[in-house]
Amino acid sequence: MSKGKYYLTTPIYYVNAAPHIGHAYTTIAAETIARVKRMEGYDVVLTTGTDEHGTKVERAARAQGKTPEEFVDLISNEFRGEWRRLDLQIDRFQRTTAANHAKLVNALFDACRANGYIYKGSYTGMYAVVSESFVNDAKPGDIDPETGKPYEQVTEENYFFRLSAFTERLLEFYDANPNFIQPEIRRNEVLSFVRQGLADLSITRTSIKWGIPVDADPAHVFYVWFDALTTYISAVEGEKCWPADLHLIGKEILRFHAVYWPAFLMAAGWELPKRIFAHGWLLFEHDKMSKSRGNIVRPGPILEVMGADALRYFLLREIVFGQDGSFSYDALIGRYNSDLANGLGNLASRTLNMIQQYRAGIIPEGGQDDAIIRAVLPTVSAVLSAYDSLDFSRALEQIWSIISLIDKYIVERAPWKLAKDSSEDSRKRLDETLYNAAEALRIICALAHPVLPHGTETIWRDLGFMESISRIRVEESKWGGLKGGQKIGTVGPVFPRLELKPTIQKMEELESKEKSRQAALVGKPAEAGASPERAPNTELISIEDFSKVELRVGEVKFAERVKGADKLLHLKVDIGEPEPRTIVAGIALAYKPEQLIGRKVVIVANLQPRKMRGLTSQGMIVAASLEGDVPMLAGFIEDVPVGARLK
Ligand code: ME8
Ligand code: MG
Repeated sequence: MSKGKYYLTTPIYYVNAAPHIGHAYTTIAAETIARVKRMEGYDVVLTTGTDEHGTKVERAARAQGKTPEEFVDLISNEFRGEWRRLDLQIDRFQRTTAANHAKLVNALFDACRANGYIYKGSYTGMYAVVSESFVNDAKPGDIDPETGKPYEQVTEENYFFRLSAFTERLLEFYDANPNFIQPEIRRNEVLSFVRQGLADLSITRTSIKWGIPVDADPAHVFYVWFDALTTYISAVEGEKCWPADLHLIGKEILRFHAVYWPAFLMAAGWELPKRIFAHGWLLFEHDKMSKSRGNIVRPGPILEVMGADALRYFLLREIVFGQDGSFSYDALIGRYNSDLANGLGNLASRTLNMIQQYRAGIIPEGGQDDAIIRAVLPTVSAVLSAYDSLDFSRALEQIWSIISLIDKYIVERAPWKLAKDSSEDSRKRLDETLYNAAEALRIICALAHPVLPHGTETIWRDLGFMESISRIRVEESKWGGLKGGQKIGTVGPVFPRLELKPTIQKMEELESKEKSRQAALVGKPAEAGASPERAPNTELISIEDFSKVELRVGEVKFAERVKGADKLLHLKVDIGEPEPRTIVAGIALAYKPEQLIGRKVVIVANLQPRKMRGLTSQGMIVAASLEGDVPMLAGFIEDVPVGARLK
């Protein structure tokens, strides 16, 4: 019997880059939740999709010599294809370019306007002429890298959303619905943001062409977020799915989901989603994995070499859902070998092989072991409640505690000894041991299948079940569901052990190929640097890519050694800003602090700040890296003014 519908969503991903495992992380988590909810008896609908409008996309298309329409089709297909390759069961894939979507965005706008929450006003910002767009973070005087001239200050007429009218209503709503924003730490962030008071929001543009036209005033197109958020409704139009039970997102887009989106819906008088869960970031070498940082890992190679389950298991077991976590091939293979090959895989093949060998492949009728039942029962409910709070790592930890318990049980019972003894008592004990191990294995598979749909299906069939494990219901994960007399299937390895080095090497080779293929597709050069393969990067970069790096001439004003770090110097460098930059540079073996005072250097001025040894380094000093890792600072022969930009 159905418990009703359960509608959950992932973000719809931007098409200005090809999919990477950051996107896969959210989508895999959502799909796992969908499986849990199906197991609980809900009619589940899972939506994902692509976010296809805006200047960035328009520009990326142009760089490829394509129309925006051609370009978004191509990249949207990449996402669709990636989810198919990962064998993710997605129910609806919505695109912001879908025809029904444009109508619904207009309907939302009209409803908000009819209720008095939209007015016409003007927006002033820095405008880039070549790309015909506002540059959000530019200040007057900043230079447009595409033209080499300053941005123009432009004022345009926009429609505004009266977000300011919702400060109190939102706070009341959060108060009445304490589980609306999860986890708690994110909820608190939103509360303190909203408590400061909300400013009205411009929700249309006249300067952008690639967007959904405002029907009521076609000189305008919708602002991307007003457009994008509405896919959650247009994806399931006419299906009685809305309101969503869960929006699963990454923490960087929480404000849009937890503040803007409910306000739009309140203004329109439409229903609000029930729960928003913002998970953490997947980091690579301590930095957020992202297309703009160019430190991307793709799911494809992992899938091909290790299988989808390996990736799913790693992401959901290694990282506490909600927190940030690191990704590395080493850790991925480590987890796979210890938990899947040695853990679940080993228990399965051991149990099934013994049944094959000692009982001709028939699961014996066997007395139930009370100690085992007592241990397994509470674990089953703990697993289900952990899933319910999206605490995947705890759910898996609990399941794996059953695996160790049964491993120990088998060793203690020593079936191989019992099998050699022909007494009635030994025969019974052997039956009992085999039955209890097989029944525990069945329950382990049932509980783990939302995370490991492929491996558990294999074991399930090997246990002799005819129906797919994906159809199992929670009630069946209780003890005693296995009937003696069932004939097991063929016993093969499920998660074969993998050797670290050759496996990494294989994945790196594939990653390198995949990267070049995607680079050609998206029209961006493949990223250099932090990508794991460290292969020589032969792809060329465009002038736009180079112009993202802000190199400036600076003068060293202060230098001292960093205590406890023999390679580091703490510098203060004047680059023509009101305050000198603090820079921590690994040049202490080549330069004495006093040598550097007054010296002109080249600084990367727009790097993310980085904490080192209690100092926050606000840039990087450019140096040649010579043999033996000796750095030689870059400089000029002529005298150059402080602050001058290199380009
Ligand atoms: O923000 N770690 O799209 P987007 C964890 N189109 N999750 C990551 C991640 C990482 N390193 N990188 C990406 C957009 N994600 C908008 C959304 S929704 C109405 C519009 C995941 O392509 C995570 O879910 O930048 C994050 O929120 C999302 O991808 C951002 O995808
Ligand atoms: Mg993003």
